[in-house]
Amino acid sequence: MALSGNDINKAKDLLVNGGLVAIPTETVYGLAANALDKKAVLRIFETKNRPFFDPLIIHTNSIEKVKLFIAEMPEKAMLLAQSFWPGPLTLLLPKSAIIPDLVTSGLDRVAVRIPDHLLTLQLLESIDFPLAAPSANPFGYVSPTTAKHVQAQLGDKLPYILDGGDCAVGIESTIVGFENGETVVYRLGGLAVEEIERIAGQVKFQVNHSSDPKAPGQLKSHYAPRKPLIVGDVEKLIAENSVKHIGVISFRKAYPVAVNKILSPGGSLEEAAHGLFSAIRELDEADVELILAEKFPETFLGRAINDRLQRASV
Ligand code: TXA
Ligand code: MG
Repeated sequence: MALSGNDINKAKDLLVNGGLVAIPTETVYGLAANALDKKAVLRIFETKNRPFFDPLIIHTNSIEKVKLFIAEMPEKAMLLAQSFWPGPLTLLLPKSAIIPDLVTSGLDRVAVRIPDHLLTLQLLESIDFPLAAPSANPFGYVSPTTAKHVQAQLGDKLPYILDGGDCAVGIESTIVGFENGETVVYRLGGLAVEEIERIAGQVKFQVNHSSDPKAPGQLKSHYAPRKPLIVGDVEKLIAENSVKHIGVISFRKAYPVAVNKILSPGGSLEEAAHGLFSAIRELDEADVELILAEKFPETFLGRAINDRLQRASV
């Protein structure tokens, strides 16, 4: 068991000395280490069992600090940063020399964001290095949105979990970069594309669903529960599948199955995103043999929800 609590000084001490700490963010919990300390970053990969070709996002608390870690900031990047940071937006920008290649898997861009969580912002303010932090789950599993989720899977490998409660957004950040003046979305996430387009104009998508190492993090097997999960017309799927115990993840509607997680009876996509990963975990642990999920409306956070359900599916 890892210790857990809201002691920023304890978290800071561990991090300054090259240790790992699980940190809360508004999206999901991160497994953090000093991004400028290669040995500490290596521990992240070992602890998560993560392949080295899958690069890490660095976290800091101000645009001034971000400038130390990147070589240049295109105008559109600055506009997005000013509009949405702190928040669930990660920007892919040309890296500066002080960022170790291990963090970026040898790529020449670094992923950076300012998370919107009071405890973690206070922690980031108190240190003079950025925190590399992937989601705090074993590689390939669903991201944790509570300290309890982190404890359950990585508790034995960690000295401390900074407990900041439930993650408000509940789904990872949207990853955005720039190619030939165009804004490119690489991962759908907690900031809706519609919001990004309002500031930066039309975006292009390069959301990869294959296991191409050049598109790290977008591996199909990500977010996979241990049980089979199928996305589609749930009523039809119930009729087609003769297994006894079925679990269903639905938006607003109730289904007559063993366990039904209705994510937002009132029809809010934010509320649905907030509860999605907990629901997947609960069904993975419940007495059901098969998980069925509705396809969500393909707008705002519904796009990221569908993306994660798709990746979690068989
Ligand atoms: O919301 C989030 O982004 C959370 C919290 C903890 O901040 N973090 C997170 O990290 O989801 P992770 O490691 O689970 O996913 C980060 C993904 C990588 O898998 C990869 O797809 C992309 O970010 N990434 C990071 N650095 C990159 C780089 N230099 N080039 C291309 N993609 C990069
Ligand atoms: Mg992850």
